[in-house]
Amino acid sequence: MSETATFPESEKVPRIRHGIIDWLEQNTAQLLQEIVEQDFWKFIMSPDADPKAVVALMRQVYLEIVGYQPDVIEAAIASIAQFPRNMKPRLVKAMLAHQGDEFDHGEMALRDFVGLGGSEAAARSKRMSPEAFAVAGVWWMIARRRDPFAYLGALYLFEGLTPTVTGLVKEKLMAKGLTEKSLEYVEFHSTEDVKHANLVNYLISEVASTYPQATESIKYGFECFRAVYPIPLWRAAFERSQRKDETVATRFRKGEHDDA
Ligand SMILES: [Fe+2]
Ligand SMILES: [Fe+2]
Repeated sequence: MSETATFPESEKVPRIRHGIIDWLEQNTAQLLQEIVEQDFWKFIMSPDADPKAVVALMRQVYLEIVGYQPDVIEAAIASIAQFPRNMKPRLVKAMLAHQGDEFDHGEMALRDFVGLGGSEAAARSKRMSPEAFAVAGVWWMIARRRDPFAYLGALYLFEGLTPTVTGLVKEKLMAKGLTEKSLEYVEFHSTEDVKHANLVNYLISEVASTYPQATESIKYGFECFRAVYPIPLWRAAFERSQRKDETVATRFRKGEHDDA
């Protein structure tokens, strides 16, 4: 396990809480409410769900992460590099250290995918799904439009939602027979992303207090990312996991390997 980026030394507790955190919290709670009403969520939380179908769904979910994650990291680091040069270097350091933590989490998802019987070669040679492409696209557009404050809004959604969601599904997945061989990503994020979420709260509060004009960009980044993540992505993963038609399931293939 990698070390986790937390608050800069001597600042273990955020000194400030900017009002935008209320907006972000409310919108995340609203999103969670929408998530729990989705078919994929009801399925994964159901004690009656067929364990094989749960495995198929989680394989597709992990494959999505494998698809978008390398681009998200690259675009995130590019965005961090675009902050105003009068930003305090300790904030930039904390942001980069956090992306350092995230650097190999696509590989973590890939290990879990393989733990569920997926083919590593197939995953590595596959094109990302259109939904993963849209996720990567939002992060690249934030960098392309040179709006680094929007990066913080998208980051809040990622880090704020992941510990809650992984915490809620962990037990359910174990009840379906998934073991640590295929739950590294879920286990890790259910605990480590609590620290990341605290760090992001701190960063946003500090940045929004220093740059009052940043709040609109932070909200915009959250909303743009929310348009593609997580509901459209997980819904598509659920639909693919239920398909029997191999040719449909492999349509993003770019190499010679069979689909997992
Ligand atoms: Fe992560
Ligand atoms: Fe994280």
